Order: sequence, then structure tokens, then C-alpha cells
Amino acid sequence: MTARTSLASWQALSAHALQMKQQHMNDLFAADTQRFKQFSIQLPSLLLDYSKNLITRQTMELLLTLAQDCEIPCWREKMFAGEPINRTEDRAVLHTALRNRSKTALNLAGENITARVEQTLEKMKNFSDRVRQGHWKGYSGKRITDVVNIGVGGSNLGPQTVTEALKQFSDNSLNVHYVSNVDGAQIAEVLRPLNPEKVLFIVSSKTFTTTETMTNAATALKWLVSSSFDEQAVAKHFIAVTANRENAAQFGISRENIFEMWDWVGGRFSLWSAIGLPIALDLGFDKFIELLEGGHEMDQHFQQAPLASNAPVMLALLSIWNCTFLGAQSQAILPYDQSLHMLSAYLQQAEMESNGKSVSWHGEEVNYPTVPSIWGELGINGQHAFYQYLHQSNNVVPADFIGSVASNTPVKGHHETLMANFFAQTQALMCGVDEAQVRADLHAKGRQQDYIDKVAPHKVHKGNRPTNTILMKRITPKTLGSLIALYEHKIFVQGIILQICSFDQWGVELGKGLASKIQHELESNEENAGHDSSTAELIRYYKAVKNQ
Ligand code: F6P
Repeated sequence: MTARTSLASWQALSAHALQMKQQHMNDLFAADTQRFKQFSIQLPSLLLDYSKNLITRQTMELLLTLAQDCEIPCWREKMFAGEPINRTEDRAVLHTALRNRSKTALNLAGENITARVEQTLEKMKNFSDRVRQGHWKGYSGKRITDVVNIGVGGSNLGPQTVTEALKQFSDNSLNVHYVSNVDGAQIAEVLRPLNPEKVLFIVSSKTFTTTETMTNAATALKWLVSSSFDEQAVAKHFIAVTANRENAAQFGISRENIFEMWDWVGGRFSLWSAIGLPIALDLGFDKFIELLEGGHEMDQHFQQAPLASNAPVMLALLSIWNCTFLGAQSQAILPYDQSLHMLSAYLQQAEMESNGKSVSWHGEEVNYPTVPSIWGELGINGQHAFYQYLHQSNNVVPADFIGSVASNTPVKGHHETLMANFFAQTQALMCGVDEAQVRADLHAKGRQQDYIDKVAPHKVHKGNRPTNTILMKRITPKTLGSLIALYEHKIFVQGIILQICSFDQWGVELGKGLASKIQHELESNEENAGHDSSTAELIRYYKAVKNQ
């Protein structure tokens, strides 16, 4: 396999980037009146406008040649067919099978996994209906009113991001809470107002070994048993979602209360599996299916659309253009919809845990920047916090602006204010304002020349800051499913082009191993001789202060 940097398309892009760095988007828009038409994609659920990037038709041709050279269509087929493209773990990557609403059979190691998925969906439906309708009772015969999902990373962020985004679609049959942090403050706060007779815990962990989740689950178990004085209560109040049935059973969860997960689903891509149970409990199973349908719709677009009009492919190519070729080091996710307030945290894990790596498929250090750091916040809040940096710092931060045409909120009179800001910001980031214009504006306002000379340089906005605009028609379970799948496939394409193993996460292991040794030291009189002096002294100080 050829190293990416030796591809003619890669080298052409490197040379082209040097030329493009001299260009301003304002001039590109002036020179090409068809830019929006040329550089936007309309899908049933959303519009992607990527015209406000530092690109020309030539840039896109070169990027598409790179995509072809990297055999994106062939890799895409391999993923959907269940080939073991997670090469370091020798596993298939089949979150798409979880939402395959066409229900076409897919065989993996001689087993029809579509049938397995359907069985689990059926089990989720029966269970969520029973709980929501009050037929599933707690140990004392009372109906369940509260669900607490205990999980972290992919076993938390996916379901929480979705239930937060779709609050308007909940009939409030149940209150759904999330506990992810091992800081006891979180679980204490969640449990404080709850009645143990009416709570259902979901222990959500693919591995069923994650320390944070196991610690929280043990605390929840203690809380329940000490309030109910009844060990049998566990069967009525604890369920698990895991690929490790044995550990869940050992924890005390009845086998019939264990929902299956599979090693061909990565944690950060798992909200479509039984990990999404809190979604079904909160919104109803039908809405969960609508979410899957939206994901499936995006899968079909990704599989069938030509690369040049393929939204996930475009997002991936633009990210690589902005970061690997033009040198941007971070990317902002800026939703203009309160309901998407967790989206940047969700995408942070999805992209950074997938592609935040620097060793190629061949096991060699890559000599190009891979993915940027992903960060963000609700756009409106960001405007009054860090947009100063986006507009005028000497780091260029490409940003995805995500908004919706129709609002779900019953409150009238706010949406146009919100969306006016949405459109204004991408325009300002691109167009900027030069010094001549700043001076003219100040003159027109009758300002003194001294004042104008002093202030004008500070009011200049260079513009030329790239943004993508994703405009959803309305946020619904279906359109949200499409949006999330759009980013999932973007991440897949990025990984292939950058030759990164997107589906493992070895980088989280080192810290986990050290933490478990240090925990032992914190809880005993032992000192580990292996620490560097900073860590050793910090631990000594901690223990000394604690024992004062
Ligand atoms: O440590 C990182 C990680 O393994 C993530 O990839 C995963 O989503 C999270 O921890 C939770 O893992 P689990 O579902 O096995 O508890």
C-alpha cells in the first residue's frame, strides 16, 4: 500500500495549498457566482453548504482524486460488508447493521447478524413498553418513575446527547438521568431526590470492566439494597447493556435483564444498539426506530451518492484540506439550537478517540497532521465568550455551524434572532472587514481622526475563516439520526485517507493502568517506587494533607 504522501494527488494538494493560502474567499466568491450551487449538497433532512471554505473547483477536483486514490468506495464496501477493518483488534465495524432498516441479511462468521439485531430490538421494545406503561414494577409493586443510566464515554454520551436533543419529543412518562463521573458528587446528586422503590438502573458498559461505571454501579446497588433491605430487589431495579454477560451476571444482574452488545460495535458508535435503551425509555420505542431510520437514510446516501455529492465524504475532505494541508489545528462545532447542547462533547469523543492518532496502518509514525482537536459550545453562548478568538486571533479555527429552519420550542419570537446570528456569524467570519472600510464607517459616524487612527487597526477582521453550514429542516428523531450518521461516516473517510486505525483506542489504556496502581497507593501506606519525582511528591502531598 502506498504511503499517502507519495500519491500524486497528495503532492498536488500540498502545492495547491501554498497557492490557496494567498487567496481570500471574498475574491473567490466574486469570481464565481455559482459557488453556492457548486459547493452545497441538499439531502432530505438537511442542507450542507461548504462554499465558505478556502476552496476552488480545482481544490475539490484534487481532493476528490485523493479520495479515489485512497479507494474510498472500496473501503466503504468493506465496512458495510463486515470485513475486519478494525485491524488492530481484528474486528468488523458494523454500527450500520444496527440501523439497517432494509433488514437485508448480513452474515458474520456464519451468523445472520441482522436477525440478532432484530431480536435485541424486539427485546428493547417489549422492555421499554412495559416500563413506560407501568407494567414493570419495582420490588414493592410501585411503577418505575425514574431511570438512571450508569455509563461513561460511548455508553453515556450517545444516549444523553440524543435524549437532550429530543426532549420536546418525550411524553415524560419517565425521568431519565445520567451518571458518568466517578466523582461521587454526581451520583449523590442524582440519587438524592429519588425513591428506590421507583428507580430503574441501567448499567451500560460494553466491557463491564470500566472502573468509573463499576464504582457507580456498586454505589447504586448499595443504595438500593440498604433502602429495600431486599437483595431480590436487584432483579427489579437493575438491567445491563454489555458484551460481557458473565461480568454482568456476576455483578448480580439477572441474565434475562442483560441486553446484548457485540464486539463489532465500537463504544462511540453504539447509541444505535441497546446502549440506546434510555432513548427508547424516554421517547418511546417508535421514536428510537425513527432515529435508526434517519441513520439508515444517511447510510444509503453515503453508499450510493457519487463522491462529489456525498455529504460525509465532503466533510471529511474539507477537514483534511483545512487541517492537514492548510494547517488548522482545531475545529469548532457550533450548534445554534439549544437542544444540541451536548453535540460538541459527543463529536469530541467520536472524532478524537477515533482519529486522534499518529501511527499509520503500517505501524509507522505519520509525517502529516491527522485530525484537529474538536471543541465547541452552543454558538450563541460562544459568541459572548470565545468568538473574539474565532474572528481575530492568529489561529484559524474552521467551524461547523449547525442550525434548524423550524424550531421545536413552543416559545415564539426567539428563533429569528437566533438564526440571524447563525447566518451573520459565518458571513462575518468569511468576509471580515478591512481597514479602509473600518475607517470609512468611523468617519460616517463622525468620529475624530485621532480616535479613528487609534482604534481602526483593532477593528479590522481579516475574515477568510472557513465554515461549513449544516441547516436541518427541523430536529426530529429521524433528522438527528441522519446528522449523527453524517459525522460517523465523515470520521470513517478521514481515517481511511489519513491511514489511521479509526476503531481502536489504545491511547486510553496507559492512564487507566497507572490510575489503578495509584489508587492502591492512595488507599494504603504503600508507595510505588516507579514514579517520577513530580508524581511521587504530588501523591505524598495529597496523602499528608488528607491525613492531617
Ligand atoms: O476508555 C475509553 C472507552 O473505552 C471508550 O472507548 C468507551 O466508550 C468508554 O471507555 C466506556 O467503555 P465501556 O462501555 O466498556 O464501559
